[in-house]
Amino acid sequence: MAAVEHRVKVTLIEHYTDTLFRFRCERPEYLKFRSGQFIMIGLEVEGKPIMRAYSITSPEWDEELEFYSIKIQDGPLTSRLQHIKVGDEILLSGRAVGNLLPFSIKPGPRLWLLSTGTGVAPYGAILRDEATYEKFDQIYLTHTCRQIPDLQYSQQLAEWVKNDPLCGDYAEKQFHYYNSITRDPSHPRQGRITDLIRSGKLFEDLGVEPGFHPDRDRVMLCGSMEFNLELKEILEAAGLKQTNSKDVGEYVLEKAFVG
Ligand code: A2P
Repeated sequence: MAAVEHRVKVTLIEHYTDTLFRFRCERPEYLKFRSGQFIMIGLEVEGKPIMRAYSITSPEWDEELEFYSIKIQDGPLTSRLQHIKVGDEILLSGRAVGNLLPFSIKPGPRLWLLSTGTGVAPYGAILRDEATYEKFDQIYLTHTCRQIPDLQYSQQLAEWVKNDPLCGDYAEKQFHYYNSITRDPSHPRQGRITDLIRSGKLFEDLGVEPGFHPDRDRVMLCGSMEFNLELKEILEAAGLKQTNSKDVGEYVLEKAFVG
């Protein structure tokens, strides 16, 4: 269990559905992190901290911190966290960690930020960081969820990115948002992202060269264990290498955390 280092106040809460919400809180002055990293956050329950890993969705330069969270009715943390109010105190560990960073993959013409569910969270930071646009020419965010209302956060993020004071001009030319839905036939884009990649539909819909190639494509993965493993297989078969402690590769992955 990471030590609690900071107590900060919640400044904003937005509920999307019965199972999803985001909130912002104060940022301790001396808390440094890189866009894409995660930190332990929590609440004090009966005198004891309950802490879980959360990706920081706000970029490095933001004066506050933002998080995107699931609500699990019997979850030790999120059953309580979902009821926080502006002004309440939450706990933070001292240090942000994680290697899902634009810095951790080779530069290249196309960067794919692939996610399901709350796995979209770290891309909130990465997409509002100028360094991302300097290192990659075209950036594609994909987000797949079960139901249409589950897409609200990523739809909002796509708007924020385009209107961002630092990245908006880059995003106008370089950023593309793609979503799909798996359990509501009324949505125009149907299916798991893995299937849309295999069938070529993703590339067709975006009007870009099909498939992944190590000379051209860089990929970040953030979803469930099965999602990460399936995509890893697809990427390895296409000849892309995962970044490891010795070499910078063409893709990196992070497990999406369940609060
Ligand atoms: P599906 O509805 O077919 O299970 P969850 O809400 O369970 O976290 O899932 C979020 C989204 O990720 C859902 O649309 C789900 O599709 C999809 N998904 C689940 N497992 C995988 C996988 N192994 N590969 C790709 N997408 C997946």
